[in-house]
Amino acid sequence: MLILGLNMFHADASAAIVVDGEVKFAIAEERLNRHKHFGGFPALSVKACLDAVGAKISDIDHVAVGQDSDANLAEKVKYALVNPAKILNFIRLRRRKEAMRDVRSLLSIALEVDPARLRFQEHHLEHHIAHIASSYYCSPWERAAGFSYDGSGDFVSTMMARCEGNEIEVLDRVFLPHSLGSLYTMICEFIGYTKYGDEGKVMGLAPYGKDTFCQQIDKIVATKNGGFHLDLSYFKLLGSNQGMQVLPDGTVRLARHYSARMEKLFGEPRQLHTEITQRDMDLAFAVQRRFEEVFFHLLNQLHRQVPLGDLAMAGGCALNSVANGKLFDRTPFRRSYIQPAAGDEGLAIGAALHTYHSVLKQPRRQALGNAYLGPEFSESRIQSALQNAGLQFRKLERTPLLDSVAEQIAAGNVIGWFQGRMEWGPRALGNRSIVAHPGLPNMKEVLNARIKHREWFRPFAPSILADKQHEYFEHDHPSPFMLHVYKIRPEKRKALCAVNHIDDTGRLQTVTREENPIYYDLISAFERKTGIPVILNTSFNENEPIVCTPEEAIDCFQRTRMDVLAIGPFLVKKETTA
Ligand SMILES: [Fe+2]
Repeated sequence: MLILGLNMFHADASAAIVVDGEVKFAIAEERLNRHKHFGGFPALSVKACLDAVGAKISDIDHVAVGQDSDANLAEKVKYALVNPAKILNFIRLRRRKEAMRDVRSLLSIALEVDPARLRFQEHHLEHHIAHIASSYYCSPWERAAGFSYDGSGDFVSTMMARCEGNEIEVLDRVFLPHSLGSLYTMICEFIGYTKYGDEGKVMGLAPYGKDTFCQQIDKIVATKNGGFHLDLSYFKLLGSNQGMQVLPDGTVRLARHYSARMEKLFGEPRQLHTEITQRDMDLAFAVQRRFEEVFFHLLNQLHRQVPLGDLAMAGGCALNSVANGKLFDRTPFRRSYIQPAAGDEGLAIGAALHTYHSVLKQPRRQALGNAYLGPEFSESRIQSALQNAGLQFRKLERTPLLDSVAEQIAAGNVIGWFQGRMEWGPRALGNRSIVAHPGLPNMKEVLNARIKHREWFRPFAPSILADKQHEYFEHDHPSPFMLHVYKIRPEKRKALCAVNHIDDTGRLQTVTREENPIYYDLISAFERKTGIPVILNTSFNENEPIVCTPEEAIDCFQRTRMDVLAIGPFLVKKETTA
């Protein structure tokens, strides 16, 4: 049975294909059309899904969309009636969503197929159920608490659920305009980060701040009865799309979230590219702290309703790895499964798996073993790409390749590491990564000056052999998708100085041989040379979506000051590299 999952006309448009209950391939459109956070129709992703399993669109049995414009309609109407200024916006969105529901026409146009040949059944699933489904059905568990939170989706910002067997029972929803995601975005915008998806930057800035503004920020969000409530006087009226607009070309744009009251309290908002002041850092600190408090309040409430140790979680806010890393200390949950594509691209697999398990009542399958669900490229394709680029390269057997790359990392060089299938989700997990020594004091500056050009306060992340995690980190709950931040043990901070953040934490990726044999062996080879079972891992890109194809990797290698490229079995060194 073939099920195509879609996230479309929404940020991070994506497609996934599920064959007899197994996710075979999944990809966000931005990786193919190179348009960051693209929010249009994921035509290229659909084609890639079909090609990956050798199917035609006419072979598809079900198409599942992680959005349902009819969900929570009563709440939407109520909101529009008490906010007359937003009624026209509401009607416009409804019309657009109606047009969007014609998935059959959209697919037949995208794939140039007669709609009469399409035989699939169509399913629409509420946004946050799709988020929870994406985690729960990929988890190894038969029962779990389900939690989803983000800016907004189908007029909801937060959902709590009981997951059991094939079913997800919704226990509670927090409706718009009350949204932890929007609170975070509002502060991000105020301190100059106005682009969709900038929240991670502010999370990195937060530990540089002090608790100067905690009292004021705490007042913006009140917790009550296991839920929360925003003081809307700090926000502009955002409308039922909660201030997120997808332009006709697929660009996702955020409306201004903060109101004049924020300016009155905290002064002029910071403009992008101006100096970050202590005020900005203190606001970042305060919003991260309040965000965590409310998050733990919600999780504790959820645990009272679903008193289990296992938590399946997704939604854009579930990318807040700092909060994720603390949940074992602050809630009774003992294990978390956070789907690697916790943001909206993950809706595609959530909708498809929900159709398979809950709608069609098919049995659960093995848990998702790893995040490598994207395209891979043959050795001959890689070789042609290298030849076409006019590069000198050597082909190596596996062991000499690993030894040579580990040697280069140990020598302080910066390596582009391109192997196997591309990762699903926003993190590079050792298949489309730039890797470097985690223990050289200047490595962060080197990477920023030569390749990444990121803000000075953003940390780089460590990949660690899973069996060595407890020696280096204060928590041993695994973090295979780089979605938890833990304290680094005091005695190891020097050895990991390039990945040790200002608050002595690291957003680690734990690596097992089962998940990624060649990456595990690379880290092991580095450990044999240096005694450190960790390498610095940052995404293979330069201010663009993460590279997908060999050509994109080679282009990034050539235009930046990367020293070495290890692509498949081929090794390329810049002439300046020793
Ligand atoms: Fe979402």
